[in-house]
Amino acid sequence: MFDRLEAALPLRFSFLIFCGFAALLALFSVVVFRVGWLPLLVFGALVGVGVHDLRQTRHAILRNYPVLGHLRFLFEFIRPEMRQYFIESDTEATPFSRAQRSLVYQRAKGESDNQPFGTHMDVSARGYEWVNHSMAPTKLATHDFRIWIGGAHPVIDVALGSTPAPASACTQPYNASVFNISAMSFGALSANAILALNKGAKMGGFAHDTGEGSISAHHRTHGGDLIWEIGSGYFGCRNDDGSFNAARFTANACDPQVKMIELKLSQGAKPGHGGVLPGPKVTQEIADARGVPVGQDCISPSRHSAFST
Ligand SMILES: Cc1cc2nc3c(=O)[nH]c(=O)nc-3n(C[C@H](O)[C@H](O)[C@H](O)COP(=O)(O)O)c2cc1C
Repeated sequence: MFDRLEAALPLRFSFLIFCGFAALLALFSVVVFRVGWLPLLVFGALVGVGVHDLRQTRHAILRNYPVLGHLRFLFEFIRPEMRQYFIESDTEATPFSRAQRSLVYQRAKGESDNQPFGTHMDVSARGYEWVNHSMAPTKLATHDFRIWIGGAHPVIDVALGSTPAPASACTQPYNASVFNISAMSFGALSANAILALNKGAKMGGFAHDTGEGSISAHHRTHGGDLIWEIGSGYFGCRNDDGSFNAARFTANACDPQVKMIELKLSQGAKPGHGGVLPGPKVTQEIADARGVPVGQDCISPSRHSAFST
C-alpha cells in the first residue's frame, strides 16, 4: 500500500504537494472569506515553479526535487560568502589569505595594521619560513635596495657604502630597485590602471614594465621609469606587416623614460601558441601605442620573425 503510494506520489514531491494543498486552501479562503490573497499568490507561484521544474529536462535535480531543488542553486550561489564568513580561517585561502587582504585594506585606509598578542601563524608547521632578528646588527648605508644593470657601475656595499665605477662602454646603466611592477600591457589593463601603476613607480622610485602592448600615452603621464617589453608582435617598433622596424625601435629606445628593454622570447602563459587581443578591444589609444589598425585582431605570433632562437 505504502509502496504504491510512494510510486504514485514520491516523497520527494511532498513539498510541491504541500504547496498545492496550501494554494487550494488559500483559494477557498479567498472565494469564501475574501482573505488570503498573499498566501494564494505565494503558494500559487511555488506550484507554478514546481510544474515548470517537472516539465523541464535541463536539470535532473529540479525534476527529482521540484521547488526544493532550487535551494541547491541558492546555496551554490552563496557558497563563497558562506566559506569566507563562517568556515575559512584567517590564514588559509589562496592566493591571499583574509589576514593578508585585511593588512592591505588597513594600510590603504591609513589605519593601524598591528595586532597584539603574537602571530596567528602556525610557526611549528612543516615548511614555515621566517627571518630571524640579527643578534649582531650592522649599519646599512641605505634601505633602498638596488641592483646596477648594464655595464660597469659603482660598487655598493650595504655596510661600507659605494666606490666609483670603472670606465665602461655602457653610458646609461640603470640602478634598478629590487621591487618593480611586472609586465601587464595597456589593453590587458585599463588606462586608469596604467596611470596608477606608473604614478606608483614614480613615487616609489622603481620601474614599470610596459608588457607586450608597448608604451601608451598613459605610461608617459607621470613619467615613472619604464621597462619596454618587446614581444613577437614588435608593438611600438613594427612595420605594417608585423616585421621589426629598426627606426621605430631606435625612437622608443632613445626615450629617456625607457630605462631598460626586455625582449620576450615566447609567450610564457601559452608557449608555442602566441596571443591575440580581440579586435573589439583594439581602440584608437591601443592602436596608437602598438602601431596596429583600430578594431582588428592584434596578433602576437608564436615565434619571432626578426631572429631565430
Ligand atoms: C593582466 C595581465 C597582463 C599580463 N601581460 C603580460 C605581458 O604583456 N607580458 C608579460 O611578459 N607578462 C604579462 N603578464 C604576466 C605578469 O607579468 C606576471 O609574470 C605574472 O602575472 C606572474 O606574476 P604574479 O604571480 O605576481 O601574478 C600579465 C599578467 C597579467 C595578470
